[in-house]
Amino acid sequence: MCGIVAYVGPRSCTSLLYQGLRKLEYRGYDSAGLSVLVDGQIEVVRAVGNMDSLEQELKGNGHAEARLGLGHTRWATHGRPSTENAHPHSDCSGKISIVLNGIIENYAGLRKELARQGHQFASETDAEVVAHLIEKHYHGDLLEAVRLTYADIAGHFAFCAIHSSHPEMIAGARKECPLLIGVGDGEIFVASAIPAFLSETRDVVIVGDEELFVATPGDVQILDLEKKRLEREITRVNWDVDAAEKGGYETFMRKEIFEQPDALVDTIAGRLPGGGQVVLEEMLIPDEVLAGIDKVYIVACGTSYHAGMVGRYVLENWARVAVELDIASEFRYREPVLSPATLVVGISQSGETADTLAAMRQARRMDARVLAITNIMGSQATRDANGVIYTRAGLEIGVAATKTHLAQIAAIHLLALKLAQVKGALDVNEIEGIASELKAVPALLRQYLKNESAAHEIAKRYYQQPFFLYLGRGVGLPVCLEGALKLKEISYIPTEAYAAGEMKHGPIALLDKGSPVVVVATDGHVYEKVVSNIEEVRARDAAVIAVATEGNEGIRAYSDDVMYVPATSEMLSPLVSVVPLQLLAYHIAQLKGCNVDQPRNLAKTVTVE
Ligand code: F6R
Repeated sequence: MCGIVAYVGPRSCTSLLYQGLRKLEYRGYDSAGLSVLVDGQIEVVRAVGNMDSLEQELKGNGHAEARLGLGHTRWATHGRPSTENAHPHSDCSGKISIVLNGIIENYAGLRKELARQGHQFASETDAEVVAHLIEKHYHGDLLEAVRLTYADIAGHFAFCAIHSSHPEMIAGARKECPLLIGVGDGEIFVASAIPAFLSETRDVVIVGDEELFVATPGDVQILDLEKKRLEREITRVNWDVDAAEKGGYETFMRKEIFEQPDALVDTIAGRLPGGGQVVLEEMLIPDEVLAGIDKVYIVACGTSYHAGMVGRYVLENWARVAVELDIASEFRYREPVLSPATLVVGISQSGETADTLAAMRQARRMDARVLAITNIMGSQATRDANGVIYTRAGLEIGVAATKTHLAQIAAIHLLALKLAQVKGALDVNEIEGIASELKAVPALLRQYLKNESAAHEIAKRYYQQPFFLYLGRGVGLPVCLEGALKLKEISYIPTEAYAAGEMKHGPIALLDKGSPVVVVATDGHVYEKVVSNIEEVRARDAAVIAVATEGNEGIRAYSDDVMYVPATSEMLSPLVSVVPLQLLAYHIAQLKGCNVDQPRNLAKTVTVE
């Protein structure tokens, strides 16, 4: 977790670092800080809370003359959120300053040893050992001190260091956590993610896993762990700066919900060209290998896991292939039975989720084929996999995933069609029929989003309820799991989500007069079964909020409230039925006055186990 930024160049850098951190706030926001070099001294400014607190601290303290500096926005792992634990951290002399994203697993032993050698620690963090190790190893060469520090530490991390004796230098290293260099005109930016410097430069160099870097205003060198210089091309990034702004919406989450039709269009674009073809260029797994796949194993966390669960139904249905599904943090500690004929699909919006990456690596070790479905180009998942299907949802800032979730489901539809094609499970006409239905979904959603009043009205009626139960069957099950997760994470209302048929085996005891029960009851082969479950709910006087297919007037007889969604085929229905549940959660959270873009205790990218 955490976001880091750094700058060296001719410009006054405090505001550049601050602006960069603002763009990284989604990575963590329990404290933030900057360190800048002013008159040969490193000045550190830190604050507990989000960037507004740091802004207050910086008032009247802009350090206009600073040309070198570091910044950090923190999501606490070791040490509670406090000013002392906020980054940047310093060595004993105050000449060295560091920012770190990740975890130093062997910090306790290192700290003990450094303390024995006389180092004074000022925080409870694992990161502070890096400042003291650099101090220990520094004999006039900052890069060498960074290299030796890297050799001492274990874990997964990216860090940057500055030293007051090197007013034009940033050095750092990376192991697993992301680190990107923005190359400007005579200036260098370093950050955990591109948006931090996108308004300043679009020329990017990626620091690879287990690599060092050293940057001066006109140059950046990427080096291996023996300090051998590595050739690295500059990539030009085409992202729109405005994409990172709210664009007129009151929150990023709302903007992103409304961007879902575009996210779908982009994710499908060019991949279903006709003639029964499914083109997935970055998949890189030959058709003949895909044809021999006898099991698909999906691993993911949170919302991505729910997208994966849609995959279970779709892959079985269209590609007639066996599918298993597991939460990545469970999979990585099991003994899964995999073979070269198993396709392990790791789904991760960020491509940096530690548990999903570990699960994918375990699958690679066991000789399975590994595919990443991710939204972030160049993310670690893309490097750990044999191939990738990129979702093309654009940057998602809201911590609660919405448009990336929809894009993940569409990517799974594409994967299922591809497998169905190579395995001959569907013929050309069947593939084309599904393809044209899939291509029609964005327009249906666009139309649907023009009138969201149902979700808003229902939210007004129920937002003070202390508990919501969600029920669904078949592809409605992952939809109800996702709806329940959205509500609990942004409104803090406790929720349960269950396969509707399981309700009578326990959760029905939770129901009382008026308890809101959200039921995904879209058209499909289990619709009648879902209606029976609705009857069971009503028999307990609970309030039924149904998500149903447009035109189904009959459901009104069984429901207190209905949110209608456009008609699609059953396997595509999660693409439409999850949207009213996102909106319901959104409006309830807004009515409760919650910060929907930055829910408490959460972070957008979970790079720790
Ligand atoms: C919830 C949410 C999380 C993520 C989970 C996995 O709204 O966003 O549950 O889905 O942390 O993250 P990724 O997809 O980046 O691996």
